[in-house]
Amino acid sequence: MVRQISLSRQEKSLLKLARKAARKAYAPYSSFKVGAALRTTSGHIYSGCNVEDVSFPLGTCAERNAIAAAVREEGAKMKIAEIAIAAFKQGKHASVAPCGGCRQAIYEFGPMTKVIFLDGRRKERKVLIGELLPEAFRF
Ligand code: THU
Repeated sequence: MVRQISLSRQEKSLLKLARKAARKAYAPYSSFKVGAALRTTSGHIYSGCNVEDVSFPLGTCAERNAIAAAVREEGAKMKIAEIAIAAFKQGKHASVAPCGGCRQAIYEFGPMTKVIFLDGRRKERKVLIGELLPEAFRF
């Protein structure tokens, strides 16, 4: 079950950074600008935005771009403690839960990651990745 919990100051600031990243997104085809900001277990923060392409499957999601930035800095041992995701649809705040592929990618770098986002009613939510992706794939 998805629980709704009020956000701490630190979680709110991560969501703010996700919004900041979303404003930089390159999304001319969907007009859906997404930003993600993650805090690693070492305490550092990295962000990413979606980058679309005229050859649609080449587009990349905000979450996976943030993960790539974190791995680039911290290397293979990088672990995510929490990640916030935000979106703007035609300039207005929009709900966004991570897509299925990004759920698996988040799980890869932190099976206990806290995920913060605006749900379908545009309410702030904080859930564990395991709740969003039960029975995640693993070898
Ligand atoms: N998108 C993300 O960046 N993250 C998600 O979790 C969901 C979808 C992007 C991909 C595409 O550029 C746009 O949102 C519309 O699907």
